[in-house]
Amino acid sequence: MYEICTETPDDEPEVEALYDLCFAPGRTALSSYRLREGVPRVADLCLLLRGEGGSLQAAIRYWPARIGAHRVLLLGPIAVHPIAQGEGLGALLMRDSLARAARAGWERVLLVGDAPYYSRFGFTRLDHVEMPPPTNPDRVLGLELCEGAWVDVAGPVTRADTAAPPAGLAQGGPVRHIDRT
Ligand SMILES: CC(C)(COP(=O)(O)OP(=O)(O)OC[C@H]1O[C@@H](n2cnc3c(N)ncnc32)[C@H](O)[C@@H]1OP(=O)(O)O)[C@@H](O)C(=O)NCCC(=O)NCCS
Repeated sequence: MYEICTETPDDEPEVEALYDLCFAPGRTALSSYRLREGVPRVADLCLLLRGEGGSLQAAIRYWPARIGAHRVLLLGPIAVHPIAQGEGLGALLMRDSLARAARAGWERVLLVGDAPYYSRFGFTRLDHVEMPPPTNPDRVLGLELCEGAWVDVAGPVTRADTAAPPAGLAQGGPVRHIDRT
């Protein structure tokens, strides 16, 4: 049995520890962190997956960003505890959070990551979007949550000033229980 819930401030040390465990040292030196520093997360989309006894199995976070006048949802980091990788938990968090993002009115999602993994969720390379250097352009990927959302959206990705969601969005849902055993 797994439980999906939104991250709270009390969860922060545990989530940071999971990211430290799953990523190479110096992860916060990555260029995408320049877009996150000092910017509030999109709290309703930052989700945790807990297993039996409440142990943290996986986490995903999102930040707001901009490309010109366009609002962009920056996905990541996502991490699954090493003992639980390859069991579909990453896919579960990806699909659940992206569905919430669409319901909340977000139109386009951006991430820096491995295309062979993220293509299964519909992400494709964004040829005309520039992440802060140094970023391998092959790893700059996007997903449309509504048709045509990436058309004519090009240029440098910049920091957002606020995590305020689009008008009319639904707030984060209740905890969901998922029986995968
Ligand atoms: C990447 C990660 C989030 C995937 O979550 P997961 O629960 O292990 O993955 P899932 O069970 O949903 O999917 C497993 C599939 O993804 C593939 N996969 C996992 N990571 C991959 C990667 N980096 N590149 C390509 N494929 C990958 C597996 O080979 C497996 O393929 P299959 O379905 O053909 O067998 C997880 O492995 C992880 O935390 N890795 C370390 C941190 C990281 O790299 N995060 C992503 C960068 S933000």
